[in-house]
Amino acid sequence: MTDKQAQLTVDGLDSSLNLPIHTGTIGPDVVDVSSLTAKGLFTFDPGFVSTASCESKITYIDGDKGMLLHRGYPIEQLAEHSDYLETCYLLIYGELPNAEQKEKFTRTITQHTMVHEQLTKFFGGFRRDAHPMAVMCGVVGALSAFYHDAMDISNERHREIAAFRLISKMPTIAAMVYKYSIGQPFAYPRNDLSYAGNFLHMMFSTPCEEYKVNPVLEKAMDRIFLLHADHEQNASTSTVRLAGSSGANPFACIAAGIAALWGPAHGGANEAVLTMLAEIGDEANIEKFIEKAKDKNDPFRLMGFGHRVYKNFDPRATVMRQTCDEVLNELGLHNDPLFRMAKKLEKIALEDEYFIERKLYPNVDFYSGIILKALGIPTEMFTVIFATGRTPGWIAHWHEMISGSYRIGRPRQLYTGAAPRDYPA
Ligand code: SDX
Repeated sequence: MTDKQAQLTVDGLDSSLNLPIHTGTIGPDVVDVSSLTAKGLFTFDPGFVSTASCESKITYIDGDKGMLLHRGYPIEQLAEHSDYLETCYLLIYGELPNAEQKEKFTRTITQHTMVHEQLTKFFGGFRRDAHPMAVMCGVVGALSAFYHDAMDISNERHREIAAFRLISKMPTIAAMVYKYSIGQPFAYPRNDLSYAGNFLHMMFSTPCEEYKVNPVLEKAMDRIFLLHADHEQNASTSTVRLAGSSGANPFACIAAGIAALWGPAHGGANEAVLTMLAEIGDEANIEKFIEKAKDKNDPFRLMGFGHRVYKNFDPRATVMRQTCDEVLNELGLHNDPLFRMAKKLEKIALEDEYFIERKLYPNVDFYSGIILKALGIPTEMFTVIFATGRTPGWIAHWHEMISGSYRIGRPRQLYTGAAPRDYPA
């Protein structure tokens, strides 16, 4: 922290206010406004566009530079040299694991992938055509009912066990959600497979035929999880922090994060991109839909484009596009009409003044859906995959908050409702 200050002069106050300024490792300084309430003032920032909700050491984004760092390491370097479980370790513990730590962490996660057999009973209450995110939200929240042995959030070891259980069990539950939707039996995890390979096995194996893991697809799946692992104080992570600030258990907090992620403006965008591409239908219609996206009277937006923070390219989208190429080539789908249309749409949009002026670039969701579809994953499962990948980020932020000093999150408001009045006699 520095001793820099901001001066605030307010009409009606007899003296200006000195507000401390805090400086981070990199990134914008922050003005500490916590003393304003004592002066009868609140700040006003709907959507938290200019608000830092916390101090964190986990992830840093520079939207103008298209930079994304996890504990200081650029996402493109992690995508190239690391893997998902190593990145999970990095997010939670703050440093890359050595060989022994990585082996132990991987073994621990592998050995927690089964869920309590009674958890399977929760699925039966859902219609088979329920949206997978509704099922995911419900079943993950139900985990709170199973682990009373490690629910003391003030106990570091309990927090660590909860992190292991969530990272291990999310892919198992995600695959169960899919199996339930298609009326196939659940596939148990296999300890001889990688994290991503095991997920693909649980998604696509049947009692009649084992799924043979293709190394190219396994690597692509691992990279998709890695690219979604964390993203600073986004809507769902902020939801997890807010839920955690009340002392709620980690499973309930993650279920709250899943609910927030579901929206099409957030994690639901990958599903919305495929729906949009299907609606466009043909490259000949692209211009018409670009005009719709620009029309203020039309609610249509170009899904997978734009970002609250990235005002340059989303570095994850760049890696995702390369991965998309690899998967489609491996599967002989390089002429995939959807991929062709997506690349045409991206080219046209990036040359259009409306998108250039508003710095709207493809985000992480623009290409991920095309890869997932090529892997045989149905569109309505895409946000479930996003939630699975984002779990270590949610857990790392929850753990960072609970490990430090924190208060219950309780924003204030600008009240413009009725003035005080008496009940009619
Ligand atoms: C994720 O926060 C994170 O980190 C999220 C995420 C993560 O990893 O956790 O990165 C994951 O959620 C990625 C974003 C996925 N969402 C979409 O792809 C949905 C489409 N994008 C938009 O809804 C929008 O860009 C947001 C929600 C992503 C950002 O919204 P903002 O920051 O509130 O921006 P805005 O709505 O104020 O838009 C600014 C301008 C507006 O035009 P003007 O009023 O200035 O004329 O840009 C326009 C908007 O109309 N605009 C778009 C657009 N996105 C913004 N116009 C057309 N198509 C779009 N996609």
